[in-house]
Amino acid sequence: MTHAEQVARAQAALDAAREGVAQSRYRQRYHFMAPAGWINDPNGCIFFQGQYHIFYQHNPYAAVWGPMHWGHAVSDDLLRWRRLPIALAPSEAYDEDASGGCFSGSAVDDGGVLSLLYTGATSRQGEARQAQCLATSADGITFEKYAGNPVIAEPPAGASADFRDPKVFRHGDHWYMVVGSALGEGAHTGEGCAQLYQSDDLREWTYRGIMARSGGRYGAMWECPDFFPLGDKWALIFSPMHCGERKSVYLVGDMDFEAGRFDWQVDGEIDWGSEYYAPQAMRDDKGRTILMAWQNGWDWMPFFDGHGPAAKDGWCGSFAIPRAVSLDAQNRLVTAPVDELAALRQGHREQVGLTLSDARHDLPLADPEAFELSMEIDLAKTTARRMQLTLRASAGQFTLVTVDFDAKELVFNRDSADGVSKGMKRCPLLLEGDRWTLRLFSDTCSIELFADDGHTAMSSNIYPTWGKQQGYVRAFGGKVAVTRLDTWALANTGSGE
Ligand code: FRU
Repeated sequence: MTHAEQVARAQAALDAAREGVAQSRYRQRYHFMAPAGWINDPNGCIFFQGQYHIFYQHNPYAAVWGPMHWGHAVSDDLLRWRRLPIALAPSEAYDEDASGGCFSGSAVDDGGVLSLLYTGATSRQGEARQAQCLATSADGITFEKYAGNPVIAEPPAGASADFRDPKVFRHGDHWYMVVGSALGEGAHTGEGCAQLYQSDDLREWTYRGIMARSGGRYGAMWECPDFFPLGDKWALIFSPMHCGERKSVYLVGDMDFEAGRFDWQVDGEIDWGSEYYAPQAMRDDKGRTILMAWQNGWDWMPFFDGHGPAAKDGWCGSFAIPRAVSLDAQNRLVTAPVDELAALRQGHREQVGLTLSDARHDLPLADPEAFELSMEIDLAKTTARRMQLTLRASAGQFTLVTVDFDAKELVFNRDSADGVSKGMKRCPLLLEGDRWTLRLFSDTCSIELFADDGHTAMSSNIYPTWGKQQGYVRAFGGKVAVTRLDTWALANTGSGE
């Protein structure tokens, strides 16, 4: 079948499934999802000709990972996404395979031509083959694969066959490509690194070397690397395999394009939750760098807890809310949900000057399922050892968010969330200064936490089964001085339809 025929076949399968899937009780209200089937990484995120485009790893035929296609959607405001036809489907010797397909990659504006760079993934006699490929579009909707594909056929010497997820960007007079790679053995036992290539036309590529490597600190294979400037620094982000609790790392430092080397001084974790993977950045006309990420994880992660029950309804996977990233004075990464989200707010409730004790304080939630909560605490007047929010609570189900002032930790516990999910995720908190903030976004099956003014984020999925839910908060071992507490119900963007 030709590429066009494969796209049409995939599109027909999606169209047949979408109406049934739209009825699923787990559909998110304001998070991006595919109409049906499976999604994983965001791909090709780009602000192109005045609109936000996102593509995504997609199996349109089933709610499990399978031969990878690229789904495609467009938005004016990062909230309401209009579906476009499938952009890429497996169709060629270099990308057609039951356990491969059109793997992750990126998009660039090549003089008005929307161009996708992706990994063609196949296996031959059990050996993985991953090669970088190009597809272009005259109208931004229908893509044609380049006849000269693959544009990079082989990993460089010394690197394993795991060689994927090209991120292409323009700097000075050249195109550059950063590719996720593992030195030595491969994805599970190698040394993660980012390979650098350079080109003048997106078709002929010159190998520039290893721009950064794990050195035993950041995992065995770097998936989905991205590289972008922030102020006068550069940030390298990637999703390392086998890196303990970490899976969305950032490094901030200086790039020497002459030498092809990235030197970093600061490192950190973009999001400590169980479900936040493969973030990809795009820069928009407001000068913002916005991250999109897959709100799920892989079975090799030590805290993996399944992909959730939504697959029974014919779909699986959503994207985290778009987040703008910046650096603070110490070049640490700060993430903030994009301001556009405020347009979804309804039913504002506020409480000012509140002192929490061990008595249960009901959170004022107009909608205890899809809501935003913002809390400001005066640490100087807080004596408690811990503060605990009980969320999405009903009939024996509840999710616990604990701010441990003593241990300086944020803890997310979903052991009792829904009868399916299990596990606790904890991460360090800064708790700097007197004024401390916590922001929280809850949707049908996810909770995203932003603490320390956006220095600490933690996103995880839960699947509560009871309709009538509520939330409350308590202090333990003293008082918590809440300067203000605001909540809003968040409107449905129709992303689930
Ligand atoms: C990351 C990843 C990528 C790969 C894609 C395949 O989640 O494993 O490295 O390109 O998913 O779907």
